[in-house]
Amino acid sequence: MKNYQFGADYYPEHWPEQRWPMDAKLMKELGLKVVRMAEFSWHKMEPEEGHYDFEWLDRAIDILRKEGIVSVLGTPSAAPPAWMIRKHPKIQPVGPDGITRGFGGRHHDCQSNPVYREYVKKMVTAMAEHFKDNPGVVGWQIDNEFGNSHYDLCMCDSCKTSFQKWLAKRYGSVDELNKAWGTYFWSQEYNDFSEVYPPVKTPCGANPSQVLDWKRFHSDLICDFSKVQTDIIRSIVPKEHFITHNCMGFSDIVSYYDLSKQLDFVCHDLYPFGYWRDHSLEPFEIGVELDGIRGVCKAPFWIMEQQSSVTGWEIMGRKPAPGQVPLWAVDSVAHGADTVVFFRWRSCLGGTEQYWHGILPHSGIPGKTYEEIGRLIKDMTPVMKDMEGAMPVVKAAIVRSYEQGWAFDIQPNVQGLNYYGQLIKYYKAFHHKNIPVDFVREDDDLSGYKVVIAPLQYLADPDLAAHYEKYVKQGGNLVLTMRAGVKERNNLCYAEGPLPGVFSGLLGITVEEYDPLGSVCVPVKSVSGSEDNRDASCDTCSKTAGNGLCASKWADIITLKGAEPVFDYDGESYEETPAVTVNSLGEGKAWYVGCEPSESLMEAIVDMLAKETGTGSVEGSDIKVPAGVEVTSREKNGKKWIFILNHTDEEKKTDISDRFRVLSGALKDNKLQPYGYAVLEG
Ligand code: GLA
Ligand code: ZN
Repeated sequence: MKNYQFGADYYPEHWPEQRWPMDAKLMKELGLKVVRMAEFSWHKMEPEEGHYDFEWLDRAIDILRKEGIVSVLGTPSAAPPAWMIRKHPKIQPVGPDGITRGFGGRHHDCQSNPVYREYVKKMVTAMAEHFKDNPGVVGWQIDNEFGNSHYDLCMCDSCKTSFQKWLAKRYGSVDELNKAWGTYFWSQEYNDFSEVYPPVKTPCGANPSQVLDWKRFHSDLICDFSKVQTDIIRSIVPKEHFITHNCMGFSDIVSYYDLSKQLDFVCHDLYPFGYWRDHSLEPFEIGVELDGIRGVCKAPFWIMEQQSSVTGWEIMGRKPAPGQVPLWAVDSVAHGADTVVFFRWRSCLGGTEQYWHGILPHSGIPGKTYEEIGRLIKDMTPVMKDMEGAMPVVKAAIVRSYEQGWAFDIQPNVQGLNYYGQLIKYYKAFHHKNIPVDFVREDDDLSGYKVVIAPLQYLADPDLAAHYEKYVKQGGNLVLTMRAGVKERNNLCYAEGPLPGVFSGLLGITVEEYDPLGSVCVPVKSVSGSEDNRDASCDTCSKTAGNGLCASKWADIITLKGAEPVFDYDGESYEETPAVTVNSLGEGKAWYVGCEPSESLMEAIVDMLAKETGTGSVEGSDIKVPAGVEVTSREKNGKKWIFILNHTDEEKKTDISDRFRVLSGALKDNKLQPYGYAVLEG
C-alpha cells in the first residue's frame, strides 16, 4: 500500500465525458487520492463479443492522474452483459428451486460454468494487458462482494458436476462419502458420485452433512473463480500492483480466510445506516465488523465502500446526523483501515441504486456532504500519513470459524440461536468496556492472548482439543461454550462418550443432559455471591429484575469432573447445578459457559475474565470515558495513536485533559462534540 488515505468509488461511464475534468478537480479539492472504477462496466469495456474498448477508461484514468488521483480497477465478473447471456443462457445461475435467475440486476452468473469462465479469462487478460503500464493504475479489485446475491446459487448442471468432482476428490470413494454423510438414514446411499445432487429443494428435510459439504464446496468454488482472475493479473501486471477484494464483514458465503490467500490485503464495505434499518448500527456492531475484517489478514485493511450519505434502493433510509459520516470513517481508521474509499462519488440518475446517495447529489453540485467529508479529509490525512500499517495491541480474542457458522446455519439447534449473534454478544461485552478484541481462527497460535473465547465449537476433533489444551496449560484462559464437541467434522454426532466430547478432559466436566430453552430464561446466581448485585434486568425476560443474570436459549446440565462451579442455575429441575464452570489446568484455566448468557451475565463473565487476566482498555493510557464513547488505539514503531469516538448525539466530557497531544478532531475543554472524535498521540 502506498499511503492513499481517502478515495471514492467512481463511475465515469454514468456521466458525459465533458464532466470528467470537473469531477477530477472537485475530487482533488476534497483531498481524494484514489478511486475505484469499472467493477460493473463489462458492456462498456466489451460492447460486442471480442471488441474490447478500454479507451474511455484510459481517458478517465488520465484525467484523474493529472489531479494526483490513482485508480483501482475492478474486474467486471459480477455483471456479464446481455449479448453474452442471449448467446449462452446457461451462464445464468439456477436456484435450489430449479428456477433460473435472469438478467436485469447483477450477479446473474454461474461461477463454475466453463463458457463463462472463458469469457472472464479473456476479459481479465485483456484488461491486465491493456492497463499494465498505465501509470495511473495501482491495483485491482476482483469481482464485487463475492457472495452478495449468490447466497444459494448456483445449482445448475455445471455446478452439480463440479460438486461431484469436489466430493470425489475429498472422499476418494463413494463408500467414504456414504459414511461421512450418514446416508443410511432415509435410504440416501449413493452407488456412484454421479448420483449426488446439490441440496436442491426437497419435499422435506435435508441431510446436514450434505449441506455442510455444499457450503464448503461453494466457498471453494468462489475462491477458485477468483484465483483464475488473480493468477492472470499477477502474471501480467507489474508486481507493485496490488490485488484485493471488497468483503462484507461476517458474510459467510465464501471463507475470507481462504480467499485472502490470493490477495495482498482485504477491503470491507461499511454501511452503518442501511435503508432497511430505522437506526444506525450500534458502535459495537460497527466495531465487530471492522475487527472481524482485520482478523482476515491480521493486518490493516481498506474500506472500499464507506457510506457517505442517505442509502436506498426502492425505499430510502434516514439521513445520517451531522458528524456521523465522518465519525464512521474515523471509526474505520480506529479499527485498522489505512485507506477509506467513499461510496460513491455522485448519486446516479438511473438504475437500481438511484437513491444510494454519494458525496455529490444527483445534480453534481457540491453540498453539505461534500463539505463535511472535505473537513474530515483535511483533518485526518496528515495523521493517517504516518499511521499506515499500525495495528492495535490486543490481548483478548474471539475465535471465528466459517465451518461452525455453516453448521449452525444448517441446524440452529434451538429457536433463535445464531452463530454470529453469539460471537457478537461476547464481543459486545468487551466493546462495552473498551477492551480491544481480535478475531482469530481455530488453529491460530493463541499464545499472545490472555483470554480466548471460542463460542459454539460444535464441530470438533482431537487435534482441536489438543491445540486448546496446549494454550491453557501454557497459561491461557480459554472459554468454551454450550454445544461444544457435539459433532465430528462431517456433521455427524459424536459417539465416543458424553458431551462436550473431545473437550471433556480439558474442561473437567460432562454434559449428559441439556434443556433447549428457546425463548425461555433460567435465572442463575454466582457461586461466590460476588456477581449477584448488578443493577440490570435481563434483556429477554422479566424474571430477574434486579440483576438480570439469566441463562437463555440453552441450558447444559453439567456434572463436575474436576472443574469448579462459577454460576449455578437458580430454577428448573436442575436448580443448584452449574451453568458456568472453570477448570485449572497447567498454568491456565479452561472455562465453560453452558448457556447463552443474558447481557448482564455476559458482563459478569467478561468482568471476571478481565479481572482474572488483567486485560483492560487501551493499555497504559488509563483513559476514562463516559458511556457511548469508544476508545481504541493503533501502534507502530513505538508510536501510538489513541482514538476517542463519541457515538452519541450529546456532548461528552472526558478526563483526558492535557495528558495527551490532540493530533486531529476536537477536544475543546475536554469535551467531544456530538458524534465528535479526537485522535491523540499516545
Ligand atoms: C454494495 C456494492 C455496491 C453497491 C452498494 C450499495 O456494497 O458493493 O456495488 O451496490 O452495495 O447498494
Ligand atoms: Zn451453476
